[in-house]
Amino acid sequence: MDYAVVCKNVKKIFGEGNTKVEALRGVDLEVKQGELLILMGPSGSGKTTLISIIAGILTQTTGETLIHDLDLNHLPDQEKAHYRGIHIGFVFQSFNLIPMLTNAENVAVPLILNGADRKSAEQKAKQVLTDVGIGDRANALPLELSGGQQQRVAIARAIIHNPNLIVCDEPTSFLDFETGIKVMELLRSIVTEKKKTLIVVSHDPRITKFADRIVRLEDGRCLTS
Ligand SMILES: Nc1ncnc2c1ncn2[C@@H]1O[C@H](COP(=O)(O)OP(=O)(O)OP(=O)(O)O)[C@@H](O)[C@H]1O
Ligand SMILES: [Mg+2]
Repeated sequence: MDYAVVCKNVKKIFGEGNTKVEALRGVDLEVKQGELLILMGPSGSGKTTLISIIAGILTQTTGETLIHDLDLNHLPDQEKAHYRGIHIGFVFQSFNLIPMLTNAENVAVPLILNGADRKSAEQKAKQVLTDVGIGDRANALPLELSGGQQQRVAIARAIIHNPNLIVCDEPTSFLDFETGIKVMELLRSIVTEKKKTLIVVSHDPRITKFADRIVRLEDGRCLTS
């Protein structure tokens, strides 16, 4: 079986002593290439922590995480950043857009980091912003947009470089019903047509129909997988 992601007994502890938090208590999870997985669970159950480890943003305390058989945590920082820049797209819960860059410039960042020239990267960024329904705001700054529009800029930035694995933290939380469905349809079509792998963290029951599989996290453990 071709797995995009394999987590083996992943544990994550933040802090120590009185402030110690066991965010993940032994997660086993396998996500197939070409699968759209929705990760649900109560606030504080470890969803953001888990997808951050999968995307190589955080490192697990113990256990193993493999992305296409590769253990990112064993790579030197520079190689890890290089791998992530090419193969992984991440939508942060808090968007993490760069406030002094226009929306198109924000979306172009992954292409420029991968060596594209600025002009062609920004042209492509405008096209992807149009795909997510906000092409007309390409030259505005992120803070001139609503929360839902900023969320779509973050989604455009996560997909522009055609990554193999896309990880989205609550991508529809600020979107109205119709826009949320449109964004999920776009993500679903990327998974189906380009055989990409998508992990979506969500509380949103309106989008569960887009999932191939739903996994629930509770208190740092997976209930189903
Ligand atoms: N950097 C950190 N330092 C200390 N504790 C942390 C840190 N990040 C997360 N935690 C703790 O780990 C646990 C899991 O947090 P996480 O953000 O993964 O939850 P979540 O399921 O994404 O919640 P939400 O649905 O509210 O976004 C929580 O108890 C949280 O307080
Ligand atoms: Mg979270």
